[in-house]
Amino acid sequence: MSKTAHLSLQGKEIDLPLIEGSEQEVGIDISKLRGATGAVTVDVGFKNTGSTTSGITYLDGEQGVLRHRGYSIEDLAENATFLEVAYLLINGELPNKAEYEDWDHQIRHHTLVNEDMENIFKAWPTGSHPMGQLTAMISSLSSFYPESLNPNQSEEDQHRTIRRLIAKMPTIVAMLHKKSAGHPVIYPQNKLDYVSNFLNMTFKNITEEYEIDPIYVEAMNKLLILHADHEQNCSASTVRIVGSSHANLYACISAGIAALWGPLHGGANQKVIEMLEAIKNDGGDAKKYIEKAKDKNDPFRLMGFGHRVYKNYDPRALIIKKSCDEILDKLGIDDPVLDIAKQLEETALADPYFAERKLFPNVDFYSGIIYRAMGFPVEMFTVLFALGRLPGWIAQWKEMRDQKQPIGRPRQIYTGPTARDWVPMEKR
Ligand SMILES: CC(C)(COP(=O)(O)OP(=O)(O)OC[C@H]1O[C@@H](n2cnc3c(N)ncnc32)[C@H](O)[C@@H]1OP(=O)(O)O)[C@@H](O)C(=O)NCCC(=O)NCCS
Repeated sequence: MSKTAHLSLQGKEIDLPLIEGSEQEVGIDISKLRGATGAVTVDVGFKNTGSTTSGITYLDGEQGVLRHRGYSIEDLAENATFLEVAYLLINGELPNKAEYEDWDHQIRHHTLVNEDMENIFKAWPTGSHPMGQLTAMISSLSSFYPESLNPNQSEEDQHRTIRRLIAKMPTIVAMLHKKSAGHPVIYPQNKLDYVSNFLNMTFKNITEEYEIDPIYVEAMNKLLILHADHEQNCSASTVRIVGSSHANLYACISAGIAALWGPLHGGANQKVIEMLEAIKNDGGDAKKYIEKAKDKNDPFRLMGFGHRVYKNYDPRALIIKKSCDEILDKLGIDDPVLDIAKQLEETALADPYFAERKLFPNVDFYSGIIYRAMGFPVEMFTVLFALGRLPGWIAQWKEMRDQKQPIGRPRQIYTGPTARDWVPMEKR
């Protein structure tokens, strides 16, 4: 196969080198294009544009394949702890026993947040969305650890910042949950593993004993793993581009959380449950809503359906759907919303509109049903997505900095007015 793509453009000829990935994906390297021809490429929404090479996550949307550092999402979800996956994403290899124990120990011993962070809550009106609060809390960590502002931190300091983020995020997420309920926060306990500690901080009530249910631990661990990374999606790209200006890591993660909030990205998990509830309250007619989703004059979209890169079943959705059945069964919960979700899925998959556009359930379609069964309020769903996605964002940021990538700064094709004379106010 030729290793270049030949471009003939307005009388100029250029050979553009091809870049081949380890899974034989092919990209055209256009880094010399503008210099050689004066032209740029235009690809709104980056549907055809690779923003980077990356060794973290491999995704084949046509085949429904997802691997982190070569390990399949199915294997990781079945066998790993979330902290193991976080280590794998950030460091490139699974930790051996000693490395894991050290990593786990370091995380357990960085879980406390500065008491002054509680004061931040006083400024927010009751009922503020926790995603807005989370962006602010994570960004404010840079004020508590100002050494993170140094873009050329030593490797040791950078690792400390990473450990702090992974360790403090569950504490902050649990604080958001407690504060929204008007309850006192529950402090982290170093004797507990990552997921148990998070569940304890979230669901323990200060006035009562709380027994951590292993079914919840298993479910939460799996859900966090399934959200851990997803290559160059909207929030990961945001983290990379903000980081490319050498902004501190807390600010970059905060920007990633903001990007995740949107209903077309992580915010979809909240919207799915709201949609399923609305369908239930409207008589539970799945077909009616399928028709609405197909109607181009109706703004309704089937939330939790469709994906920019999956044109096959999202492998994470397959795992979650199975877990959802198992967990609800184990917890003895009969949620009518699950039946509506299944009816919607069945009806949609049999409908040519969805088949032709290759629209399948995505990771968000069933996750909210599990979160709800565990007792999380719907506003917390996207926050839980952020908790899972954190190691992926860190890994993407670290790879970008380790590769010494330049500041991200796309070009454009200007389509506004050409040069014109200034018009004084009285003549306009
Ligand atoms: C994820 C998403 C933003 C991907 O968008 P995209 O790659 O830009 O794809 P498009 O929006 O161009 O969709 C392609 C076609 O499928 C249709 N489509 C996509 N998702 C749809 C949905 N959820 N419901 C109904 N129609 C949908 C579009 O209307 C479009 O139809 P057309 O070709 O007739 O115009 C989109 O599928 C969506 O909005 N899904 C719902 C939100 C969601 O679940 N997000 C979480 C993603 S993990």
